[in-house]
Amino acid sequence: MSSGDASSVELSLVVPTYNERENLISLVKDIHQALSGLSYELIVVDDNSPDGTAELAERLASKYPIRVVRRGGKKGLATAVVEGCQQAVGRVLGVIDADLQHPPGVIPDLLSEIWQGADIAIATRYSEGGGTKGWGLWRRLISKVARGLAHLSLPVTKKIEDPLSGFFLLRREVIEDIALKPTGYKILLEVLVKGNFDKVATVPYVFRDRARGSSKFGFGELTGYLRHLYCLSEADKGIKRFLRFCAVGASGVGVNMGLLWGLTELAGLPYMLSAVFAIETAILSNFILNELWTFRDLRTSSGKGILSRALRFNLLCGLGVGINLSALYGLTEIFGFPYLLSNLIGIAAATLWNFGANARWTWKMR
Ligand code: GDD
Ligand code: MN
Repeated sequence: MSSGDASSVELSLVVPTYNERENLISLVKDIHQALSGLSYELIVVDDNSPDGTAELAERLASKYPIRVVRRGGKKGLATAVVEGCQQAVGRVLGVIDADLQHPPGVIPDLLSEIWQGADIAIATRYSEGGGTKGWGLWRRLISKVARGLAHLSLPVTKKIEDPLSGFFLLRREVIEDIALKPTGYKILLEVLVKGNFDKVATVPYVFRDRARGSSKFGFGELTGYLRHLYCLSEADKGIKRFLRFCAVGASGVGVNMGLLWGLTELAGLPYMLSAVFAIETAILSNFILNELWTFRDLRTSSGKGILSRALRFNLLCGLGVGINLSALYGLTEIFGFPYLLSNLIGIAAATLWNFGANARWTWKMR
């Protein structure tokens, strides 16, 4: 983020544009009127619009506090917003669409929420007094589903009525030290998942019909949205961890078998005694590998010492052995499964248990 004279500009508003020449003049005038008396800047981030949006914006810059960021081609709404924020010098940053679907008259209300202590102020369609105008059933349904998916996959958005809003303000500290790497359309999701904030305020507004020009929303934006949700959710990380955990488990089987054979054949121990050593050694080597690899990043945040984690791991994996043996016995004796199949099911159940329980209680994954 640029370190300009932050104190003199109160608000930097980022306006992403792609072919919005017909809307720009009204937008700039409306914003100027809404913010009269306030020190603000508009940062128009244009993706080389063929209709000449950037040229018009540059002309308007002689009369209004506008800066234009030109990008080489249509690279997407969310990254345009990020680039705009990087250029912004204001104490408060904001985003508004260029097509007047976001009424500029709401900006002062958003700003006063920030002045009253909110870290993020979101203009919201889905709360008392807000709404959408001219949307058919289909469009409303898509929006509802998209919102539901966000609420489901990203717990921080649960209490936010309109996490897909493209119209919001925030204190610059919220995103100052974080890397925003959004794909697609929904920059606010990125901010809510990665930003540093406590208080979120909402201001209702009615999403108006597009007066001129056309929406840039298409199939690419839709699939991009799903990809973005997946990347932001913990699902991605969780699956990676699980695969590592399984690989470690497989190495443990090797350790177990090797020791069982070696202690019995080479050291001459009774095989049941060898097995006890083999199992315990495999659990310990699994613990060390998970500690160094699978859950490496959680070692300090788990809040417990390594000994306590080792103990928990032992205990929980011990229960895992119990699950394995119960399945082996129960499925074979009660349901008449072939014992090898029962054992396979038992191993699968024990692995899920070992992973889930240890992620939660040993390494405190959230
Ligand atoms: N620079 C740049 N690059 N700008 C873009 C691009 C792009 O690839 N795609 C769209 N824009 C600009 C448009 O010119 C417009 O100013 C704004 O981003 C929103 O694009 P629309 O095509 O009008 O989006 P929408 O009406 O479907 O949805 C908007 O409003 C929703 C409700 O608040 C978006 O802002 C959504 O994010 C938002 O949820
Ligand atoms: Mn629009």
